[in-house]
Amino acid sequence: MSIESQHDLDGLKAIGAIVAEVLAALPAAVRPGISTGELDALAGHEFDRLGAQSSPRTVYGFPGEVCISVNDEVVHGVPGQRRLDEGDLVKLDVTAQKNGYVADAAITVAVGDASARSRALAACAERAFRKGMEAARVGKRVCDIGAAVEEEVNRSGFTVLRELTGHGVGRTIHEPPSGPNYFDPNARQPLTEGLVITVEPIIRWGRNTIQTGSDGWTVRTVDGARAAHYEHTLVITKSEPILLTA
Ligand code: CO
Repeated sequence: MSIESQHDLDGLKAIGAIVAEVLAALPAAVRPGISTGELDALAGHEFDRLGAQSSPRTVYGFPGEVCISVNDEVVHGVPGQRRLDEGDLVKLDVTAQKNGYVADAAITVAVGDASARSRALAACAERAFRKGMEAARVGKRVCDIGAAVEEEVNRSGFTVLRELTGHGVGRTIHEPPSGPNYFDPNARQPLTEGLVITVEPIIRWGRNTIQTGSDGWTVRTVDGARAAHYEHTLVITKSEPILLTA
């Protein structure tokens, strides 16, 4: 969406703060032995307490409150019986809605003591997000964000998963424009004042190959390599974007 009034900005800030709060509550519960279903129940409790709803569940019928993807699971992991192990890399992706506004954010969390390479992968996703955010302002184009993300990911020796992109958000979970995490010469749309988008590097090591699992939701790397994801919802301005979900 594009913000048209102070009312819109207030509504977005409210849901952005809720997403930030849910996303802050989950890592404290991440530990060896907890199941992804138990984490999901905690997220559901937070949504209820804050008067918000899960967007993937409401809009797409996703079988969970939040997407929880472990290790080689990249995005859209379905919460359930799986118990986390020491050293796992967990992606927590929270998209919530309230009063007709929607915000979306994701983080990657290591369970206990993860390998140096896993920690480097997670750190790279966050760093690439910061680079993308620096390119996200009036006067730039959608492709400038992807170029900045891709440069940081490549420089760090990791790989952008090209099928998975950022997106417009604000009124529904997925709106135009789509925001590739690489330089796409066709992504020419200008970034205009008040545009609400996600910036969300989704990366792995090794080759760019993914597949969707038999549950119809969970996206995995084909060869079992680990993936990382870092995402916030932001509003484009002439200078620094407004970070809604942090
Ligand atoms: Co998103």
